[in-house]
Amino acid sequence: MTAADGPVLNPFSRRTLLRAGLVVAAAGVQSACTSGSTAGAGLVLPTDPRIAAAEARRHTTGQTHAVRFTAQAGVVDLGGPQVTTWTYDGLLPGKEIRVRAGDTIRAELTNRLPVDTTIHWHGLALRNDMDGAPDLTQNAIATGRAFTYQFVAESPGTYWFHPHSGTQLDRGLYAPLIVEDPNEPGGYDQDWVIVLDDWIDGTGTAPDDVLATLRQGGGMGGMMGSASGRGGTSALLGGDAGDVRYPHYLINGRVPAAPATFTARPGQRVRIRFVNAASDTAFRVALGGHRFRVTHTDGYPVHPADTDTLLIAMGERYDVITTLGDGVFPLVALAEGKEATALALVRTGAGTPPPASIRPAELDRDRIGYDRLTATPDVRLSARIPDVTHELDLTGGMMSYDWGINGTPLDPARRLLIQQDQRVRITFRNRTMMWHPMHLHGHTFQLNRTGPRKDTVAVLPGQTITCDLDATNPGQWMIHCHNTYHAETGMATILGYRT
Ligand code: C2O
Ligand code: CU
Repeated sequence: MTAADGPVLNPFSRRTLLRAGLVVAAAGVQSACTSGSTAGAGLVLPTDPRIAAAEARRHTTGQTHAVRFTAQAGVVDLGGPQVTTWTYDGLLPGKEIRVRAGDTIRAELTNRLPVDTTIHWHGLALRNDMDGAPDLTQNAIATGRAFTYQFVAESPGTYWFHPHSGTQLDRGLYAPLIVEDPNEPGGYDQDWVIVLDDWIDGTGTAPDDVLATLRQGGGMGGMMGSASGRGGTSALLGGDAGDVRYPHYLINGRVPAAPATFTARPGQRVRIRFVNAASDTAFRVALGGHRFRVTHTDGYPVHPADTDTLLIAMGERYDVITTLGDGVFPLVALAEGKEATALALVRTGAGTPPPASIRPAELDRDRIGYDRLTATPDVRLSARIPDVTHELDLTGGMMSYDWGINGTPLDPARRLLIQQDQRVRITFRNRTMMWHPMHLHGHTFQLNRTGPRKDTVAVLPGQTITCDLDATNPGQWMIHCHNTYHAETGMATILGYRT
């Protein structure tokens, strides 16, 4: 039924497989209701009036924030290395969208890429037909065409957006989306956004080449890392750190030799919003000479908790507060297990910038984990017995490159069924030898019953993690690994509201 199940010896199989990952080819926006498969019957599809009704219930300011951008190919300067890649409007990261909670975002995207694209608004509980999952929530936007996304951004927080097709995210198509909270006390003088990325595009290997190589398994070249753990190993990640060793690691689109510099005054309090936009790299972050007070996970407040360093998985966001010292300080993102770093500088006074390869001692000090983070009472889920539990075993392996859920790649005919207003429990059990950052669209779950609210959670090998959520956002929603290569090869499924 799905492309992913197609015969391997078919001459079109490789092409078909390349389409298989996050593209829900066989059960399209329209066809899901007419295909006669179990997938279509009784589902709340993106065209269902319940979607507009849910949108109408959202609190809105009545203000509309209109933006336009173009997905295009072009040359980008990483601060030395020039790469030909795909970006929004030639910028890396793309231009931030910043609105107030309850504003309507109207974003017109023109597609000047040689392939179809869409935009997914990562982490936002938005109307399902604007979620940007090609063929599941909308038809992909063809080359030369435009599409206007319009939705209420109701929940404050740190979000981001990116395409949802193929390996496009591993190029330069990403940007932050900040929803400000007018009711928040704030208590900081500066608000900085740090976008982390692993970079290979335009260096002689395109992300589609990486994918093809990974699919072939074994025999990886130098670019792809060593034979044992192509992307290195990390105790913090429980084994293999990733599948790909990248030539560059970036903060806000810059290599360490030409870092972005943030300026402030000594003693100022700064809110730093971290976004990990990488495809295959977790980053351990620290600011030399400082500690962080963690205030938000994936946009949602937690009881403030102090730490020297944080490990951030692909797709995750953390907001921290720190009070700045006097001088020049390295803000370092260590590519976990990959022996390389990304760098930005914080300057509040005189001083010589540290060398590009600096590794502040904080990286190896106290590191907060999910176990030390709890949602604040205003966002904590009420105690409630789940109405429905879905158990998702993460399966597959790096050599066969057959990542999946419950032993199969994404099958659009299969849905994890839920119903409006249910308490839903999703249990991720990692049966593989590698960690996976699992992401759910359109909802924010609570981790391990009392933990932080999140939409992306790193599940280490052998680990079981429980995610509870309230089904208040009708539609069809992807759940997938946020490793671009794992998602594209099938570690994905769909949470489907029944009518
Ligand atoms: Cu940021 Cu479906 O992902
Ligand atoms: Cu994965």
